[in-house]
Amino acid sequence: DIRSEVLQILQCFQLSEDKLKDISDALEKEFVRGLGKDTQEAASVKMLPTFIVDTPDGTEKGDFLALDVGGTNLRVHHVHVDKELTTESEEEKIPEEKMTGRGDDLFDFIVDKISAFIDSQKLKDQVLPLGFTFSFPCQQKAIDKSILIRWTKGFSCSGVDGKDVVQLLKEAVDRKQGFKMGPVSVVNDTAATLMSCIYRNKKCDIGLIVGTGTNACFMEDMRNVQCVDCEDGQMCINTEWGAFGEEGSLKDVQTDFDIEVDKKSNNPGVHIFEKMISGLYLGEIVRVVLVKLTEDELLFGGQISDKFRPSVLRVLKTPSQFKTEFISEIEEQDKGPENTVEILNKLGLDFSRDLGRDWVEENVKIIRWVCKTISTRAAHLCAAAVTTIAMRIYANRIYANRGEKSTADRNITVGVDGTVYKKHPNFKKELEAMVQQLAPELHITFQDSEDGSGTGAALTAAVVQRLQNKKA
Ligand code: BG6
Ligand code: GLC
Repeated sequence: DIRSEVLQILQCFQLSEDKLKDISDALEKEFVRGLGKDTQEAASVKMLPTFIVDTPDGTEKGDFLALDVGGTNLRVHHVHVDKELTTESEEEKIPEEKMTGRGDDLFDFIVDKISAFIDSQKLKDQVLPLGFTFSFPCQQKAIDKSILIRWTKGFSCSGVDGKDVVQLLKEAVDRKQGFKMGPVSVVNDTAATLMSCIYRNKKCDIGLIVGTGTNACFMEDMRNVQCVDCEDGQMCINTEWGAFGEEGSLKDVQTDFDIEVDKKSNNPGVHIFEKMISGLYLGEIVRVVLVKLTEDELLFGGQISDKFRPSVLRVLKTPSQFKTEFISEIEEQDKGPENTVEILNKLGLDFSRDLGRDWVEENVKIIRWVCKTISTRAAHLCAAAVTTIAMRIYANRIYANRGEKSTADRNITVGVDGTVYKKHPNFKKELEAMVQQLAPELHITFQDSEDGSGTGAALTAAVVQRLQNKKA
């Protein structure tokens, strides 16, 4: 019958616990390659040094600007750091044409926003240090020198790959002459999230983002970071785990649907892991599955007229029609079925008019299964990756204790941000449950980060300032 045929098609998205453990092992191997001096270049997961070697200790003070580029919105903040943090901010969506046009135009747009914000905050006569969250893979040479390796998450501005983004920002500031820029500290959003969680809660070990893209960072022992010449202490490592799979380890996990979504993306063949987990892609995966089910007449099937089917397919075959936020609405426990009908009607499928009541219920059920299957797989893959980092941290602690295992060392805290994690009704639960299952010997807890990137970037600038003042 229809239900079992649908379940069979969705089968390819189910990952057993053993499979997730294999994925975690393969990721650990990539971590080691990414950290190695001679192996980093070929590794898919780059394990990028951030040059953040210390975390907030609560003594940081001063006024900072923070800039956040790379999530859903562009944000500018004025952060006052003292015993407490106060923040004023403005945010705006970056227009599509700026995301894919010329790099200079993007940086001009960013600088215009900073200028307008500085004017509105009456900060024009001050030269404030700037924490710059730039949420893309960058080869960082110093805290204020960060070379873009590649764009991700739908950005593709020309003339930025291989360039120092701080320099490009400075050039735009010079062109625009709107304000004077202070010293800059560049951070990835994962590192900013980690910093702000440490500041607020004293303890946090992993910075995790599950939003438009996905990625994580953690403090790694310097002895393991072979590409930086220093053996002592720790450094925050931006894993860029979104790129996992480019080396081939996810071949048997990638379904035909994933392959199709990857092919149609603006960066085919790369960031394979991200494309199975994050917000820019989940809606697309659901959409291509719905196309298949409609073509196989399992959805809107024999029940609708042949006249109606081509128009359903036309809608469903339009890329980006099915937003990831729909998945959250469709999976809502109580209002989910109602939301599903509303969304389909909004998409122009005139769902309830053309089908009888029973068929509506049946189709709603199937669509909800599809969404749940895709979001659960995302949460489980994310759990496998969080476990990999948590195990590394635990191993480092045992090493530091000369082989002794203590109960406290089993506690790992993950600070998290991003729309998928925060807005999806079940993602959090599925992630937590699977992490527990995969690493029963550890006690891994998750805490929401509140505007991590704004405060985190400002705090990084504040830590840099504190360390410099200490040196002077
Ligand atoms: C935000 C951070 O809260 O979360 C951003 O300030 C980060 O820097 C973002 O990139 C991730 O979420 P999304 O869903 O906007 O990509
Ligand atoms: C993408 C970016 C990465 C970022 C993540 C989350 O994977 O490459 O730098 O941290 O998205 O925003």
